[in-house]
Amino acid sequence: MLEKAPGFFIEMDPATTPHPFVEFRDVTFGYGARAILDGVSFSVPRGKVTALMGASGGGKTTVLRLIGGQQRAQRGEVLFDGQDVVRFDAKALYAARRRMGMLFQFGALFTDMSVFDNVAFPLREHTQLSEALVRDIVLMKLDAVGLRGARDLMPSEVSGGMARRVALARAIALDPDLVMYDEPFAGLDPISLGTAARLIRQLNDTLGLTSIIVSHDLEETFRIADHVIILANGGIAAQGTPDDVRQSNDPLVHQFVNALPDGPVRFHYPGVSIEDDFGNVEGGRS
Ligand SMILES: Nc1ncnc2c1ncn2[C@@H]1O[C@H](COP(=O)(O)OP(=O)(O)O)[C@@H](O)[C@H]1O
Ligand SMILES: [Mg+2]
Repeated sequence: MLEKAPGFFIEMDPATTPHPFVEFRDVTFGYGARAILDGVSFSVPRGKVTALMGASGGGKTTVLRLIGGQQRAQRGEVLFDGQDVVRFDAKALYAARRRMGMLFQFGALFTDMSVFDNVAFPLREHTQLSEALVRDIVLMKLDAVGLRGARDLMPSEVSGGMARRVALARAIALDPDLVMYDEPFAGLDPISLGTAARLIRQLNDTLGLTSIIVSHDLEETFRIADHVIILANGGIAAQGTPDDVRQSNDPLVHQFVNALPDGPVRFHYPGVSIEDDFGNVEGGRS
């Protein structure tokens, strides 16, 4: 099998296959006495888009926080590029976080800063780059999300979909290896949602990232994801390609996959048949 890697092709052979970018091995975690994850194992393949799905309150955001080291697993290993985050000291954690971009759930822009300054923020916080270089990087990232022309606007002047794209540009400002998107489509109209989804896929491939998306939008997420993980009842109900997951016989997965509408929008509001309203037209439908 040929695997696309940034700029070149490598032969995928089990002996040389790179380890997953993120891997959970038998991870148990709870807030206080309340267990959220119970012996969870899964992997996030390098260079791919992985969707993390499941019911609200199932622990998806918690999984991202365990990867980012904001929470520590009580048992098991959380491997980030082969190293156990659970054992990281402050310095190692800081170094690992520099390699992660995060688009937080409900993550808003700083309302008192322009679009430009929002994207520049992580660069100014975490690097000593000159303003000239910051400018070039910000404009490059804004260009990648189609908003180079919107640099001087304030967040109140951009649409919800544009704001999400600015947040995306901010998440990739420091050239991360891994980007984690927590419900990046929430509250977007179908067109903005499609744009954001395609953008996540495109950035993953052109920048050679590994992406994790937490999302409830089954249709759009299955369209762009290479790998799907479904969390349910503290465990993994399914993981695999979108097709594998769709065909899963696990009742939990079946329920999850079918509990959601099969299309982003229904065009026709249900009503009487077209014949009842207009009569049978010649050569018309039967
Ligand atoms: N900081 C916290 N302290 C205590 N409980 C929390 C905390 N964060 C989340 N929880 C609880 O843990 C469970 C999983 O939360 P979360 O990971 O946010 O789920 P999801 O993102 O899948 O909706 C929820 O029941 C939530 O109420
Ligand atoms: Mg969440």
